[in-house]
Amino acid sequence: MLQNNAHTDDTPVTAPTAATPIIRESALPPLQDKFGRTFDYVRIAITDRCNLRCTYCMPEEGVEFGHKDTIITTAETLRIISVLAKIGIKKVRFTGGEPTIRKDLPQLIAGAAATPGIKGVHLTTNGLLLHRMAKELLDAGLTGINISLDSMDADRFMRITRRTGVDTVLNNIQLALDMGYPRVKVNVVLMRGFNEDELEKFTRYTKDHAVTVRFIEFMPFDADQIWGTGDHFASAETIVNNIKSLYPTIEPAPGTRTEHHIFKVPGWAGKIAVIPAFTRSLCGNCSRIRVTADGGIRNCLYSDEQYNLRQIMRAGGSDDDMIALFRKAFAEKAVDGYESKKRSDAHGLLDTTQQHRGSMTQIGG
Ligand code: GTP
Ligand code: 5AD
Ligand code: SF4
Repeated sequence: MLQNNAHTDDTPVTAPTAATPIIRESALPPLQDKFGRTFDYVRIAITDRCNLRCTYCMPEEGVEFGHKDTIITTAETLRIISVLAKIGIKKVRFTGGEPTIRKDLPQLIAGAAATPGIKGVHLTTNGLLLHRMAKELLDAGLTGINISLDSMDADRFMRITRRTGVDTVLNNIQLALDMGYPRVKVNVVLMRGFNEDELEKFTRYTKDHAVTVRFIEFMPFDADQIWGTGDHFASAETIVNNIKSLYPTIEPAPGTRTEHHIFKVPGWAGKIAVIPAFTRSLCGNCSRIRVTADGGIRNCLYSDEQYNLRQIMRAGGSDDDMIALFRKAFAEKAVDGYESKKRSDAHGLLDTTQQHRGSMTQIGG
């Protein structure tokens, strides 16, 4: 089985030097659940807005975006990170919506990178605006970038995202590589009838580009647009088998926990991964905490239950109060994404002020 156990993003890019301060490990117990999983990776959505309108994500008119006052501020975001670092969180990813829309992104990256205990600061972006800020983000301390690109064909890119920009995104991937960005990845949601015929083209892209191309299973977080309209789902197993038949010499490679299947063509510069986002075979290895743009904690991508951290912070809650809410959220985490979904369907919402979140832009990926 081409599956990895060595998780690569947990180590700092730069080896410690004599000048690197020694980081005191947290004295507090780590964040764990009752199944023995440890959570050390936080994904923070810093906006629910986006400059694209991907059909598998949101409708042309957008979704109901949160009111400006409900979006967590720079200071609140950095406070969440420092509180989480006290309980062993080492990896931070800023997501959205589209995180490059936030003017304070460099400040957030720099603040996260400077937080004792934080070893990696990553970004998931559609890459459209990267050229405007690539150097600033790198200088701020970014240690990895995941760029979403579902087609290399201009017409098709337009059909999927409802906007132009394929050349800009491709140029910005190259720019990131040329600038020496560590860990450049390309996220491709692979869908039947949309882009499945680009599997070979995207795989071949790893011949000369030192990126990890990651094929992601389509999930039903598309604001009810196309999930139910036809046979668009391609399973991780099918994708892996198709890659194997196209490139029989592929061999296993190291990757992150999300990269459940990961391999490379011998001698090629990059890697290819397949993410079972829908079939959820990665749940046993889950290490992720999600914070939504309006400051809610989510213990699973498939859970509708949200724990209102923003309310605690804005009511003058202490760091310990915040830690207590994270511990409660993860004590209540279900064994896997199927169970989370089942529970959410049965229980309704924990925080009744929150709406059901049908789009990925509201969940933070
Ligand atoms: P790395 O740290 O580089 O592995 O990135 P990542 O995969 O954690 O982050 P990214 O934002 O690039 O996420 C890519 C996709 O992985 C998401 O859109 C989801 O489809 C999938 N994914 C991430 N986390 C989860 C999760 O907890 N459960 C499931 N089912 N899918 C996830
Ligand atoms: N299914 C699978 N992936 C999705 N993304 C957004 N919506 C969906 C969906 N319905 C992906 C984006 C990006 C990542 C953060 O989430 O393409 O790569
Ligand atoms: Fe924007 Fe990402 Fe949703 Fe596409 S998937 S509309 S890039 S938030």
